[in-house]
Amino acid sequence: MITVENINKSYGSGASENKVLKGISTTISDGDYVVILGASGSGKSTFLNVISGLERADSGSIKYDGRDITKLSDKELTKFRKDNIGFIFQQYYLLPNMTVEKNVRMGADLSGNSDYKEIIEAVGLGDKLKSFPGELSGGEQQRVSVARALAKGPKILFLDEPTGALDEATGRQVLDYIGRLHDKLGFTVIMITHNQNIAEMAKTVIRLNSGKITEVYQNQKQKTAYEIGW
Ligand SMILES: Nc1ncnc2c1ncn2[C@@H]1O[C@H](COP(=O)(O)OP(=O)(O)O)[C@@H](O)[C@H]1O
Ligand SMILES: [Mg+2]
Repeated sequence: MITVENINKSYGSGASENKVLKGISTTISDGDYVVILGASGSGKSTFLNVISGLERADSGSIKYDGRDITKLSDKELTKFRKDNIGFIFQQYYLLPNMTVEKNVRMGADLSGNSDYKEIIEAVGLGDKLKSFPGELSGGEQQRVSVARALAKGPKILFLDEPTGALDEATGRQVLDYIGRLHDKLGFTVIMITHNQNIAEMAKTVIRLNSGKITEVYQNQKQKTAYEIGW
């Protein structure tokens, strides 16, 4: 369980201070599928970066099963992220000179003998192990980044507009893989979007408006990637 209490975050100071997160509190249950929905500039990426420990809040607490990550040193925070969290962004951030297989293995920073080939299979790229990112479509590249994020078996997967650079067909396909892996592996999904349609895939929707949570609701029925509008 993630417990977020009274998070505030500003950029700049004095007359140019921009208050981006204004007293955010929420809880997220293990295994939930959460979509954070809000207009561009509402603070979604900042919220994701802060609760995942990529950035520091100015005040407030963020507890993972009672452990407050705002109290960790930079080194401890890096280890916390490595051990617990996977990230997927709109850009794929793949290493162009490495094969799919190497991107997943190195990007995931695997220490043990994780079965990374199985996860590459699971995103439908079992026949692309030796391909380079430049030889793949955008949707395939994003599926490589999904495999990279999941190869180390994270407890929580954070996604910031993962289909923002994709066309409808490949965007649906990427969301479909993510949904099925969530059902199979049981990690928590926390996904940002500005697209109301994508929110229909969530179990829990958190609406963000000008740096505040204005609404939290549960969908009665979660739609699949092929049932939503686009
Ligand atoms: N690193 C940064 N430095 C300064 N301002 C930032 C930074 N990141 C975001 N902001 C500002 O914070 C506000 C919210 O941005 P962001 O969290 O990216 O919103 P969203 O993801 O909902 O579009 C915007 O006004 C943006 O300009
Ligand atoms: Mg954003």
